[in-house]
Amino acid sequence: MPRSLSESWTPDSWRKLAALQQPVYTAPQRVAEVTDQLSGYPPLVFAAEARELRRQLRDVAEGRAFLLQGGDCAESFADFNAGRIRDTFKVLLQMAVVLTFAGNLPVVKVARMAGQYAKPRSADTETIDGVELPSYRGDIINGIGFNPRDRQPDPDRMLVAYNQSAATLNLLRAFAQGGLADLHQVHGWNLSFLQNNPQRERYAQLAERLQEALEFMAVCGVTSANTPAIRETVLYTSHEALLLDYEQALTRIDSLTDKWYDCSAHMLWIGERTRQLDGAHVEFLSGVWNPIGVKVGPGMQTDKLLRLIDKLNPDNEAGRLTLITRMGADTIGKRLPSLLRAVQREGRAVVWSTDPMHGNTVKASSGYKTRDFDKVLREIRDFFAVHNAEGSHPGGIHLEMTGEHVTECTGGAWKISEADLASCYRTQCDPRLNADQVLELAFCVAEWLRDGRAA
Ligand code: PEP
Ligand code: CO
Repeated sequence: MPRSLSESWTPDSWRKLAALQQPVYTAPQRVAEVTDQLSGYPPLVFAAEARELRRQLRDVAEGRAFLLQGGDCAESFADFNAGRIRDTFKVLLQMAVVLTFAGNLPVVKVARMAGQYAKPRSADTETIDGVELPSYRGDIINGIGFNPRDRQPDPDRMLVAYNQSAATLNLLRAFAQGGLADLHQVHGWNLSFLQNNPQRERYAQLAERLQEALEFMAVCGVTSANTPAIRETVLYTSHEALLLDYEQALTRIDSLTDKWYDCSAHMLWIGERTRQLDGAHVEFLSGVWNPIGVKVGPGMQTDKLLRLIDKLNPDNEAGRLTLITRMGADTIGKRLPSLLRAVQREGRAVVWSTDPMHGNTVKASSGYKTRDFDKVLREIRDFFAVHNAEGSHPGGIHLEMTGEHVTECTGGAWKISEADLASCYRTQCDPRLNADQVLELAFCVAEWLRDGRAA
C-alpha cells in the first residue's frame, strides 16, 4: 500500500499550487523555525484514532450511524478556559443522547474544537473610519483587535495554537473517560441550564425513558461500573485545514501502517473558499489518510463535484469523504437534488452532512452578523426531505454552537430578537447557536431522523 493516497503526493506538494487564504508573514525565517519546531513536537492525535473515526464514518455513509459535528466558529486564545470547554462538551453529548435515543442510531461525535483557529475571509483587508488593516484570520494567524500590531500575522501564534489544542484535547479526553460522560449523569447535566427552558418537559420525559432503560440493564447486571460503554464516550476533534504551514508541520507517518496522517486533528475539512480542484488545499488533503470533509455551497456544479470526489477519494471508500452541504434554507431544495442524484448515479460512496449555518448568515440592522433559528432548522428539514425523497441517508449535521448562553442567533424557544443580540454577543467570528437552541434543534432532528427511518 502506498504511503499516501496519491502517488505524486508529498506533505509539501501543495506548495507548487495556488494556496488561497494564507497569511503574508513578514519574517519567513521565523515561520521556518516555528514549523521546524512543530514538526518535532508530538502529534496531537494518534493515527489509529483517525482510522477508527474513518471506520465509523463508513457506518454513517451506509446509513447505520449519524454524524454530529459541532463547536465554535473560531476558538480564541483569550477565551480559553475549562468552563467553556466543559459546557460545549456537555451540550454536544446531550444532543448526542437525544439523537441516539430518539433517532435509534449510534451517533458519531466530532467537535469543532482543539484546533479550530484559522478563518477564511471574504476580504483581505478591513476598513474602519478610513483606516485599512489586514482582516482578522483567526487567532493562529493574527489578533482580532483593530490595530496594526494585532493584525500583523505572527508565526509564533502557531505554537500557542498547538499548545492550546493539546490542553483542550487533554481535557476533552478526561471528560470523555473520567465520568462526566456517564449516561447516569444526564439528569444532572441539565438541571442548571434547562431551568427556564420550555423544552424541559420533553427532555425530562426522554431522560426518564433513558433512566428506565438503564435501570433495566442494571437489573440484568449491566452497569456503568462494569460497562465502559455506559460510562465513557469518544469525542473526536476536527477543524478546517486552512493554514497549510501548520497542517504540514503536524503531518506524520503512522508507525503502524506506514501511511501519512495529518495529526493536528482526527478529521479535517476544506472550506468553501479553498476547494478549487487544482488548488493547494485539495492537493494537501488528498494525500493524508484521515477522514476528510469538503464544504459544498450553492454554486457547486455536478461535474466539478464528481471530479473533486474522485481526487479526494480515489478508491471510493465509504467513510473517507464527507460532503458538508451549506446551501441556505431557500436554496437547498433547488440545488441539492441534482448533486445527490449525480453522486448516486455514479456510485460514489460519501457521507452527506448539512451545515445549516453558513448559507443563512445575515446582517441585522444593528450591524451584528446573525442567523435565524427557523431558517437553520428549515435547511436541516429540507436536507432530510431531499435525502428521504431520493432514498439516500441524511448522514449528519455540522453546527456552529456553544454551551454558553450567548445571544448570537435570533429565534428559538426563547425568541431572541435582533434587539437582544447585543446582550451577550461573544463570538470571534460567526454567530453560534446557544445551549438552549441546539438542544431544541436536537429534538427536532431526532424526530426527523426517526420518521425518515420509519418511512
Ligand atoms: C466555517 O465552517 O467556519 C466556514 C468558514 O465555512 P464555509 O467554508 O462553508 O464558508
Ligand atoms: Co463560521
